[in-house]
Amino acid sequence: MAKSIVYLNGNFMPIEEANVSVLDRGFIFGDGVYEVIPVYAKRLFRLDEHLDRLSNSLDATRIPNPYSECDWKKYLSQIVMKHEEEDQSIYVQVTRGVAKRDHAFPVNMTPTVFMMSNPLQVTDVKTFNKGVSAITLDDIRWQYCNIKAITLLPNILLKQTAIDEDAQEAILVRNGEVTEGSASNIFVVIDGVIKTPPKSSRLLAGITRDLIVELANKNNIKCIESNFSQTDLSSADEIWLTSSTKEVLPIVKLNNEIIGNGKPGPISQKMYKIFQDYKTELKRNET
Ligand code: PDD
Repeated sequence: MAKSIVYLNGNFMPIEEANVSVLDRGFIFGDGVYEVIPVYAKRLFRLDEHLDRLSNSLDATRIPNPYSECDWKKYLSQIVMKHEEEDQSIYVQVTRGVAKRDHAFPVNMTPTVFMMSNPLQVTDVKTFNKGVSAITLDDIRWQYCNIKAITLLPNILLKQTAIDEDAQEAILVRNGEVTEGSASNIFVVIDGVIKTPPKSSRLLAGITRDLIVELANKNNIKCIESNFSQTDLSSADEIWLTSSTKEVLPIVKLNNEIIGNGKPGPISQKMYKIFQDYKTELKRNET
């Protein structure tokens, strides 16, 4: 498709024609929330879970939810259908809206709603087999990391520090405990047991994270939601990241030290396969 069609405040239009006021509180304050929803074979993945999290982020920031669940589903499927790629990544952003600059919430605001589609580029088999490297950094973010806020400056700085050190992700540590990646959740395998930090305001409850926990339980692979320290992380047998765009991505090097034998471990491989099978099964069931 020559021009990418985006959604802005009730209308679909080419991206070049989509304009937002400079007084939008998203631009001025980063006052908004977002979602990234993967689409496989033109189907929105775990849509109810993504809409629930969006609704929680809106409630937590006291931005009125602009649409009913039914309308969200309608607009989201329209944006998917306007793009020819089978697999897409849908970005949804809701800001508090446009008003004269003032920290206090102005009354009677109309939220700004923006949606766009990008081709979905998940971890391919080659990247999975190679794994990536990561570094640990102090979690300098705020205390509401459960809100998927567009205000991502700390996450961006942390990610860039990792990239500057030739690593792919920054793994964040708060008071000695591992929280998550700058744009992903984290899993470790210690003595054959999968661990991921429990949901709290210190991390974003990833939709992929929840699915991995669910699939591990379903497949009788021991998985517990429990905090672990930076020392546990460094001595873990396996580490992987999850997100809607990374799916399952093994870390084979941490702070320049090899993890396990420097290759994705057996449980990482198993979870990757279970995740891929789940996607295939979903496509089959829905056709
Ligand atoms: N980010 N934690 C953080 C801080 C994240 O930014 C993300 C995803 C996740 C994983 O969530 P999920 O499995 O629902 O994608 C965890 C998205 C992909 C982004 O900002 O682009």
